[in-house]
Amino acid sequence: MTASFDVSLPSLDVLNSTMAYREAGDADAPVALFLHGNPTSSYIWRNIIPLVAPVAHCIAPDLIGFGQSGKPDIEYRFADHVRYLDAFIERAGISSAFVIAQDWGTALAFHLAARRPEFIRGLAFMEFIWPMPSWDDFHADARETFRKFRTPGVGEQMILEGNAFVEHVLPGATLRKLMDEEMAVYRAPFPTRQSRRPTWRLPNELPVAGEPADVYATLEQAHLALAQSSYPKLFFTANPGALVSPAVAERFAKKLKNCRVVELGAGAHYLQEDHPAAIGAAVKDWMIGLGASPHHQ
Ligand code: BEZ
Repeated sequence: MTASFDVSLPSLDVLNSTMAYREAGDADAPVALFLHGNPTSSYIWRNIIPLVAPVAHCIAPDLIGFGQSGKPDIEYRFADHVRYLDAFIERAGISSAFVIAQDWGTALAFHLAARRPEFIRGLAFMEFIWPMPSWDDFHADARETFRKFRTPGVGEQMILEGNAFVEHVLPGATLRKLMDEEMAVYRAPFPTRQSRRPTWRLPNELPVAGEPADVYATLEQAHLALAQSSYPKLFFTANPGALVSPAVAERFAKKLKNCRVVELGAGAHYLQEDHPAAIGAAVKDWMIGLGASPHHQ
């Protein structure tokens, strides 16, 4: 089901650094752009991409600071990821895509869709980032941990010293036990305090109770645009979820136009690790229904 060690990925020069990416499928097929979150990389799509590749030109970048991408001396704020992803998309020559996203990948996808709706042929998403009006909206089991991540001094100790996002959040929000070889791939980009800064910054960027104000405002706008949009959507839900509980999922799906909902069953946050076959098959069928051609097999 999975490779023991990750393959060495190709990369593109992007701004002052490099971004690695995983690629599969026919270059003439419609692009399927896969966007991961924290603290993972394109590796999280490894068991899904082969199922979608028969109908798509699959491209999965490692976000800047993650996976095999470079680690330039930047803040790793959400706006930095926007800049680097925009530059990657341009450098890769992608003019439109089906976007498949999870976690911070969804924040990037929703913001991209709000700015460039014509780029989006369809948007598939799961465990998405949404502006939470209060900490009560945050999953009860993770609330205290994430408040600590955002407490100056404490968050740095937990994440920069203890590598908590890789060692605790990732295995804690995946239902199956990740194998040692898989954990080794996820650990590889984060051997030192400095290298872990991207994984520390993102929980500090989560839009909760109005903070950080810029991210909160940007994602409120992006969600408004999403609710008004008519491009096709594919929404994967899980129980109990983490950022998206079944109650949030139900409320959210009702607001969206042209949205197919796929219930994956038991799952927390890293749904690609628990349900790759169901996600891959659903994305492939959805794309075929939207005109992608299986003759690329
Ligand atoms: C996050 O990356 O934002 C996240 C991860 C696991 C549980 C909840 C949130």
